[in-house]
Amino acid sequence: MPGIVIVGAQWGDEGKGKATDLLGGSIDYVVKFNGGNNAGHTVVIGDQKYALHLLPSGILTPGVTPVIGNGVVVDIEVLFHELEALVARGLDVSRLVISANAHVITGYHRTLDKVTERFLGKRQIGTTGRGIGPAYADKINRVGIRMQDLFDENILRQKVEGALEQKNHLLVKVYNRRAIAVDEIVDDLLSYVDRLRPMVGDAALLLNRALDRGENVLFEGGQATMLDVDHGTYPFVTSSSATAGGASTGSGVGPTRLDRIIGIAKAYATRVGAGPFPTELHDESGEWLRSRGFEFGTTTGRPRRTGWYDAPIVRYASRVNGLTDLVLTKLDVLTGLERIPVCVAYDVDGERVDEVPVSQSDFHHAAPIYEEFPGWSEDISGARSFDDLPSAARDYVLAIEQLSGTRISVIGTGPGRDAVIERHPLIG
Ligand code: GDP
Ligand code: IMO
Ligand code: MG
Repeated sequence: MPGIVIVGAQWGDEGKGKATDLLGGSIDYVVKFNGGNNAGHTVVIGDQKYALHLLPSGILTPGVTPVIGNGVVVDIEVLFHELEALVARGLDVSRLVISANAHVITGYHRTLDKVTERFLGKRQIGTTGRGIGPAYADKINRVGIRMQDLFDENILRQKVEGALEQKNHLLVKVYNRRAIAVDEIVDDLLSYVDRLRPMVGDAALLLNRALDRGENVLFEGGQATMLDVDHGTYPFVTSSSATAGGASTGSGVGPTRLDRIIGIAKAYATRVGAGPFPTELHDESGEWLRSRGFEFGTTTGRPRRTGWYDAPIVRYASRVNGLTDLVLTKLDVLTGLERIPVCVAYDVDGERVDEVPVSQSDFHHAAPIYEEFPGWSEDISGARSFDDLPSAARDYVLAIEQLSGTRISVIGTGPGRDAVIERHPLIG
């Protein structure tokens, strides 16, 4: 089973980083295939806590080769900050490989992200402000800068000139900002070239050869299904392919080589930023979930919106990703609730709808229809087998499994690396 994909099954922050770390010991390569430093993965190993944004979480496992695929957008300043911070903590990051076709986030992307959000006013998306959307827009618009462009100063200058020609008009005339000088961008990018040269290469060739040799490659998705540019709650999404198909396009490894597609879902739901969220709670239960689950963004520190588990969403994720397994995280957070509501369908303008509505306005109007399950009060943080769980917790997991349409192979019972129950092996 050499090609394994991890994707978020909800709105992000499901615990993908922890799931990647869990598999780390059996993995040879970990590939980030989408997004950039909008991601925030917290991984807890013993008494050490790591927050990763741009680098794949597999970088924390000795012996694993971390790869940044062509589908990623790279802020080079952030890249070196993150690498240096890990080196200072004694980690070996020397194996990192970056695809020559990955695109670069520059200063003008960060500026445009912020000014366009401000311009949208009430309609703003609540982006992370990292320049993600504008960098992907340039890629699709064929005016992006790729890693490989940095190694030819003439080409780099031409491309930056081309990209800035339109943008400076926009910045000055529409957004009332200063124009950005070509030299400022080119000099900044060139200052990294010597350090980047040994890392940048043909990541697709490397990964396909590893798979030919029977080695294990893990594709670690950033963001999540409901934030995917095609399958998410557009326009309240990120700008990349966060679903399983993105693992192929974002790495250069064909879909026939992907054997397991693992969705990560929380035992409840959260969302950061704007957009529809049918089970969102605005009462003390929502506040309770936020403080119990410590639901504050790893990247921006924003409080996450919280709500009950939404089964149609995860069923949708099972479908569009072709999930083979689910990892259900943060079950421990629900301990102490008398009853736990689970959304099983929606009421859309008086009509029962069982699946995620295709129409954006219907989804905006969708009110959750809940089924309630009995809670439990026993501490489950030490549970290491399914039978260790109280019967109410087991019933909750089994109900979610049935409603979600994918078997739950792993259950998270705490933030630590060992706080898991493995029901079915994720590898092999
Ligand atoms: P990611 O973006 O999907 O990698 O998730 P984040 O790291 O942004 O958010 C998940 C948070 O939940 C992190 O702080 C993890 O340490 C924590 N976490 C992961 N799994 C569990 C679990 O089973 N129980 C608890 N209590 N915390 C968990
Ligand atoms: P991980 O990988 C949760 C959200 C932002 C915003 C929208 C667009 O940690 O799960 P962007 O800056 O990407 O243009 O913002 O997407 N968002 C995330 N929400 N987890 C993430 O990553 C996210 N990455 C982006 O809050 O609503
Ligand atoms: Mg996160």
